[in-house]
Amino acid sequence: MQTAQARNAREGITGVVLYDDSRFFQWLEGPEDGVERVMGSIRNDRRHTDLEVLSHHASPARRFDGWDMKLAARGIDPALWQGDVLEPPREIINDLRQRPAAAPNLLAKLIPLSGATGDSPLVKSLAGKSLGSATASILKDVLLTTVIPLLLHRRGWSAADAQHVLENPRAPELAELLVASDQAASLDLIRELRGEYVEARHLFAPLFEPGARSLGDLWGDDFCSEFEVTLGLCRMQTAIRLLGADTPRAVLSGVEPRVLIAPVPGEQHQLVAALDSEWLWSEGWSPQAEFPADDRALADLLSASWVDVLDLSLSAAFHREDRLPRLTRTIAQARRASLNPALVVVVGGRAFVEGGAVGPDVGADIASRTSLDVDRLMAQGMRTAGDARSRPAGSRRR
Ligand SMILES: Cc1cc2nc3c(=O)[nH]c(=O)nc-3n(C[C@H](O)[C@H](O)[C@H](O)COP(=O)(O)O)c2cc1C
Repeated sequence: MQTAQARNAREGITGVVLYDDSRFFQWLEGPEDGVERVMGSIRNDRRHTDLEVLSHHASPARRFDGWDMKLAARGIDPALWQGDVLEPPREIINDLRQRPAAAPNLLAKLIPLSGATGDSPLVKSLAGKSLGSATASILKDVLLTTVIPLLLHRRGWSAADAQHVLENPRAPELAELLVASDQAASLDLIRELRGEYVEARHLFAPLFEPGARSLGDLWGDDFCSEFEVTLGLCRMQTAIRLLGADTPRAVLSGVEPRVLIAPVPGEQHQLVAALDSEWLWSEGWSPQAEFPADDRALADLLSASWVDVLDLSLSAAFHREDRLPRLTRTIAQARRASLNPALVVVVGGRAFVEGGAVGPDVGADIASRTSLDVDRLMAQGMRTAGDARSRPAGSRRR
């Protein structure tokens, strides 16, 4: 190990090697040519049999930054080593035995959260807490106390431009950086790309939305955990705040529609709700963001005050097709509870971008594929609902 560590240091290689009962799992990362040279040595080493490469890919950032090829093994006396030794948790060893192909993801779990994510207070407060209500309340705080008030933009692209948004080719790279150990690298990329767009919010559709889907793909490929996806989305929301805003928001003439924005109860990912809130705010609307714990809490909100449009969203990262039947029930209950008999329901999330689901599948009026279009769709939905209201009662939608 010590000879290997010295050579790896010369090659600029970091990583971890885990020993379990005559099998080794190793993660090597660094400059491509250095990794190739070390892999060549390992291949030629006749002490190994059945060498298998489980994953080999380019990555914009290190996951084991500062890790000088640590050894992870059970029952090793750390006193015999010079510090670079870890006792791997039993669950990781068990998982590796059952799913050796998932080793890249499982080895990444050896990175302690505190060391891997810097000193961000947001991340610190997430560390060690279960997902769900804790994350929801932290994200709610960030959204309501900092994200929305800071994002004061003037009107930008017209709705027609929304049809022509191209995904930024570096969105997948952003996703990898968001789950990498160095959070600063993802912010650097966002800052770099910020210059390509007229306003910070014009990054939403080409970068953040496809970046969120790429995060879901990293999870699907077993490259990162569900927690890391959530953390990545959370970092994205933090980045939106850090981008700042320098322009006043648009002023809408006439009566402002009342829009209630919420993740579907039970959905822990809130990026779509955050992007839609910020977009509408910058367009001069006054959306109300809520995080109802269950369908009843949502129904209570709708029966307590008038709402023109309800915007419900599923994860921007995960497909969530399995949640559509439940969403249908949520929407039916919301309509029953609403003071507004012509409530317009807009749904969003990855299921409606790629999954082929459309709004009426779940009892919604419209499915939004991007926050860039959400104000136009809502205005259109309200016009249609208004038309329906002026028709004879028998021909109304509800
Ligand atoms: C499980 C295991 C992991 C190893 N990892 C490394 C490594 O990360 N870096 C390295 O230089 N050698 C590593 N080695 C040693 C190499 O297999 C090889 O013996 C050494 O690099 C000398 O190669 P050379 O004769 O081509 O110089 C490892 C050996 C084992 C058994």
